[in-house]
Amino acid sequence: MSENHPNRGSPCSAVVGLQWGDEGKGKIVDLIAPEHDAVARYNGGANAGHSVVVKGQRFSLHLIPSGILYPSKLAVIGNGVVLDPDKLQEEIDGLRSRGIDASGLIVSSRAHVVMPYHKAEDAAREDSLKNERLAREGDQTSAVSEIGTTRRGIGPAYAEKVQRAGAVRVGDLLDPASLPEKISIAIATKRAALADQPGAAEVLDEAKVTQWALRAGEAIRPLVQDTAYLLNNLVRAGKKILFESANGTLLDVDHGTYPFVTGSSCSVGGIGPGTGVPVQRVGRVIGVMKAYSTRVGSGPMPTELVGPGPDGQIGDRIRTRGREFGTTTGRPRRVGWLDLVAVRYAAMINGATGLALTMLDVLAGFDSVRVCTKYESDGKQSDRFLPDSATLSAVRPVYTEFQGFSEDVSAAKSRRELPVQARAYIEFIEQAVGIPVEIVSVGPDRAQTMTT
Ligand code: IMP
Repeated sequence: MSENHPNRGSPCSAVVGLQWGDEGKGKIVDLIAPEHDAVARYNGGANAGHSVVVKGQRFSLHLIPSGILYPSKLAVIGNGVVLDPDKLQEEIDGLRSRGIDASGLIVSSRAHVVMPYHKAEDAAREDSLKNERLAREGDQTSAVSEIGTTRRGIGPAYAEKVQRAGAVRVGDLLDPASLPEKISIAIATKRAALADQPGAAEVLDEAKVTQWALRAGEAIRPLVQDTAYLLNNLVRAGKKILFESANGTLLDVDHGTYPFVTGSSCSVGGIGPGTGVPVQRVGRVIGVMKAYSTRVGSGPMPTELVGPGPDGQIGDRIRTRGREFGTTTGRPRRVGWLDLVAVRYAAMINGATGLALTMLDVLAGFDSVRVCTKYESDGKQSDRFLPDSATLSAVRPVYTEFQGFSEDVSAAKSRRELPVQARAYIEFIEQAVGIPVEIVSVGPDRAQTMTT
C-alpha cells in the first residue's frame, strides 16, 4: 500500500448509541465536532431526536447532523438516511430563525425520500397490529404487538427502498421526466391497503403527491450532491469526518431486539452502506450510554422499573429528573437500571474504542443504585445478550448494588470532583465493558461535560 493510500491511518470518528436511542449522542457529537471537518448522518430519518444545549438555548435536531451548530463545518445527510423534505425544511427554517448559518448542509442525491404515503402506511400498520394485539388479549402464547414506531414513515420508506420499483430518491425529485412514473407505481401498489385509511384520498392522489414532490425537489436542489464522492474526497485530502448515528444499537434492524427495532443499521456497520465511506476509515468509535436505561415503544427491557410499587416510583423519579420524554414524539420513555449485559454487547457490535457516559447527574439522590451484570433464565446465569425479543423477554436481571451519592454533580469539571461513589460507578462500567469512559456528561449544557 503506498504512503498516500487513503486506507493508511483512520482519521474519522463515529458516535453511536449503545442502548435504545436517546443516549445523548447529539451532545457528544456537538462536543467533538470541533476536531472534525465534517459531520455526516448515515442512517434513520426524522424519527431521531438529538438535543443540544448551547449557552442555555436548546436545539432539537431530527434530520440535520448536530455539527450544523458550528458554522465552519459541513453537515452531510448521507444516502443511508430516509429524508422527509417537509421536516428538513422545517428544521432549516427553525435554525435560520435563530441565527444559525445552515449553509454547510449537504444532502445525498441517493438518500431515499419519505413520501406522504409512507407515513400513512406506518400509521395503518401500527393500528392494525394494535387491533390484533387487543383481539388476542388473554392468549398467553401471542407475541403480537405494535412496534410503537414514531409514525414518521421510517419502516415503509426503507421497505420501499428494498422493493425498488416505486422508490423515490432525492435525485429523482429533481427529475420531472421520470418522477411521476415512480410515484404512480408506488401508489398503485398501495392503493388497496390504504384505501380505507383516514387521509387516504390525499396521499393516494398521484397529481397532488407529484406536485408536492417537485416542489420539495426545487427547495432542496441547491443542497444536493453525490456525497459518496464528496466524503471520500475529503478523506483523501486528509480531512476528518465525524459519523453521527441515529437511534441506538439495540434498535438496529439486524443486531437489535428484533422485531422491536427501527428500519436501519444504527451501528458502525451502517457507515459503509449509508455513506459510501469504507468503515475502516473510522479509527475512533465513541459508544454513548446513559447512566441508566431508557426505551420508547414496545419490546423487551429486562431492567425496566415499572409498576405500582417502589420500582415504579424509582422509575418515575428518574423519568422526571432526566426529563425522559421523547424529543420526537413527546412520549414518556420507559426507564430502567443500567443494563451492562446490553451495553457490553452493543460495544462489541460497534468495536467501540471509548465510552461517553451521560446523565450521571440524574442518579444523584438515590440511597443505592443498581447495575445489571447478568441475566438469569431457567435457573442459569449468563452474561450474553439475547437480541431475540422472545428470549430476552424471559430473562430476569441479576444486579450489583452500589451506594448512591447525594451531592449535586452538575457543576463537576473533572472526574476527581465527583463523589467517590460516582467514581466507583464509572470504574465499574469501564471494567465491565473493557474500554475507558472518555467523556462524562452531568447536564444538558455543552459546558457540563468532562473529558478524561
Ligand atoms: P421507527 O424508527 O419510527 O420505525 O420506530 C421503531 C422503534 O424505534 C420504536 O420503538 C421507536 O420508539 C424507536 N425509535 C426510533 N427512533 C428512536 C430514537 O431516536 N430514540 C429512541 N427510540 C427510537
